[in-house]
Amino acid sequence: MWDPTAYLRYGDERSRPFHDLLARVDADHPRRVVDLGCGPGTLTAVLAARWPDSRVVGLDSSPEMIARATALDVPVSFQVADVRDWRPDPDNDVVLSNAVLQWVPGHRDLLVRWATELPAGAWLAVQVPGNFDAPSHRALREVAGHPPWRAALTPLLREAPVADPADYAESLVAVGCTVDAWETTYVHLLAAGPDSAHPVLTWLEGTALRPVRAALDAAGWSAFRAALAVRLSEAYPVRHGQVYFPFRRIFLVARTGSAQENS
Ligand SMILES: C[S@@+](CC[C@H](N)C(=O)[O-])C[C@H]1O[C@@H](n2cnc3c(N)ncnc32)[C@H](O)[C@@H]1O
Repeated sequence: MWDPTAYLRYGDERSRPFHDLLARVDADHPRRVVDLGCGPGTLTAVLAARWPDSRVVGLDSSPEMIARATALDVPVSFQVADVRDWRPDPDNDVVLSNAVLQWVPGHRDLLVRWATELPAGAWLAVQVPGNFDAPSHRALREVAGHPPWRAALTPLLREAPVADPADYAESLVAVGCTVDAWETTYVHLLAAGPDSAHPVLTWLEGTALRPVRAALDAAGWSAFRAALAVRLSEAYPVRHGQVYFPFRRIFLVARTGSAQENS
């Protein structure tokens, strides 16, 4: 289950890649704009503000996230839906998905399908985290591999669920898109208080640790969390009241149809 409140912690850090992605989408008057995996809707509202004359739709498979989004009272139609079932409409000129597709196995095939079904000249913009080999995720896998947790958690641990930017680019160029792909490592400076949990642990609780928490009972979760906190404190030591948390992200902006059609 997604917890909108936990996810919205570190909102500034989490929203920055969305803005960097959106800056590369050069659509003037898109008819329909869809945010796939819109979460709590705060960033979908940014799309509605950028294109006030467009029909803006936000989809998410989490009822908790859609409930939070609907409460925003912004000109967006929010719906509970799974991105795997979504099909583009003929007037879908912009599709954006920020920090979602890492949860969707086989999403490279989905991207190709969307690119072939979208109208010519549409924009498909995607950002996924590329940090699955980072110390934070290595620590998570190591602790989860220990005997008290191994049986419950091994089936949940995913090896690199995302591709490199060039691989995404190649898939979409192959179906006639013009592609802009890149990666960025942000260094987030997270405040660490003497009485609060390690900030990387708090960060992970909003995302990668959700399935772990759901798989353990209260005592198991408490012990797992304490063991992971020790590893994270070693990997990301507190310096001058904060930790330096490098976070790699992968970006892809594709425009459907040939470059000639779009010029
Ligand atoms: C890390 S949050 C990102 C939310 C939002 N895009 C943002 O940038 O703030 C990931 C979201 O993806 C949604 N999600 C994961 N798998 C999904 C799926 N198969 N279909 C629809 N939404 C999905 C989750 O419910 C969650 O709200």
